[in-house]
Amino acid sequence: MAVTESTWAPSTWRALPAGQQPAWPEPAVVDAVKERLRGLPPLVFAGEARNLLAALGEVAEGRAFLLQAGDCVESFRDVSAITIREKLKVLLQMSAVLTYGATLPVVKVGRIAGQFTKPRTSETEVVDGTELPSFRGHTVHSDEPTAVARVPDPERIVQGYYQAASTLNLLRAFTKGGFADLTQVHTWNQEFVASSPEGRRYEVIATEIGRALRFMQAIGIELASERSIHEVDVWTSHEGLLLDYEEPLTRRDSLTGQWYDCSAHMLWIGERTRELGGAHVEFFAGVHNPIGVKIGPAATADDVVALCERLNPRRVPGRLTLIARMGADRVRELLPPLLRAVRQAEIPVVWACDPMHANVYRTASGHKTRHFDAVMDELEGFFAAHREQGTWPGGVHLEFTGEDVTECLGGSLAVLEEQLDHRYETLCDPRLNARQSLDVAFRVAELMRAE
Ligand code: PEP
Ligand code: CO
Repeated sequence: MAVTESTWAPSTWRALPAGQQPAWPEPAVVDAVKERLRGLPPLVFAGEARNLLAALGEVAEGRAFLLQAGDCVESFRDVSAITIREKLKVLLQMSAVLTYGATLPVVKVGRIAGQFTKPRTSETEVVDGTELPSFRGHTVHSDEPTAVARVPDPERIVQGYYQAASTLNLLRAFTKGGFADLTQVHTWNQEFVASSPEGRRYEVIATEIGRALRFMQAIGIELASERSIHEVDVWTSHEGLLLDYEEPLTRRDSLTGQWYDCSAHMLWIGERTRELGGAHVEFFAGVHNPIGVKIGPAATADDVVALCERLNPRRVPGRLTLIARMGADRVRELLPPLLRAVRQAEIPVVWACDPMHANVYRTASGHKTRHFDAVMDELEGFFAAHREQGTWPGGVHLEFTGEDVTECLGGSLAVLEEQLDHRYETLCDPRLNARQSLDVAFRVAELMRAE
């Protein structure tokens, strides 16, 4: 039975099949945890989600670009200010490169402050020869490779809330308190990045931005009072997978009376949980945040249009972002019919490219990896498909880290297969390191300029 807008409630999803949920051993404990979460403050305010919606509306209409990026999965162990700061630095650097290169506003959305739960294709995984329940993220269980550690523990949902709150707090401090001030553009270049070709290229842009600021000052523009020079908006997002977390954080906005999922500004539905009759689509149809949906190679034009009708029936620009993850070898063939169908249905969407998730493979050493060239190849195919269809390539969705990890292969200072072991730290999918991320930003800026 379809729930209508008037009968929707944060709990109506429970009547439907919900994929990828943990098998909690004691459902009563989950209910108690949800009750506690209902009593805790929202992490974001509905008015902020509306501001992001407006910014994404500009993207949907081709006047801005979306940069959504962060960890594959955040870790409860990685809570330090340094980790958050280094991630933010790369996001700001990439954004400076894209804004400067394409002379368009860049909407910055982190996979951060709540990206704690993973969908898994397989129920089990083999770690050091032992078969265990697959790791589903720290809000579900520990990543320790023992059967006991992998038993889902609902207390971890509460811990996820507090970790999201402290991460978001620091993010707000950094982005509004001077760290993200455009006059600091040079300081975002970390040492290990600065010595690379991308780092040097970045220095050139940073110097030019500094000159532009001094020029504006020289002709009498009052920079001190210009908010957009001193503060940035970095929005939060995560996959809205764990519905026992999203439901109790969903609140009715006192200004409009509408429901908002106040766990993040933007939530997305993953490739594995986007079926129309499923709990996730039901849940996110009812909240008013900007919503994303991953679109993989199996999606048909009818599937995509039906998702658009369901998730954006009022045709609000910025409400819906379709995140295509087709694979480098298939994007040129699979994406154009979808772009055409959505355009013909006259439903405004942001089209973003996730060049990561359909380009994963395992090396002989057993590491899950992606090659930088495949990432770029999918991005180029995405831009080509939009050019062919006359639609706007609205954004990119990446998995990165601010650290000097060796998880994805290639790049200008190439990570080689035999080096994967040096710093392979991800708990789930391989992430671009800071240099590779900056390299992607430069190349995407070039693709945008060619538009
Ligand atoms: C992800 O973004 O980490 C993810 C699991 O993606 P997808 O749903 O596209 O596989
Ligand atoms: Co991932």
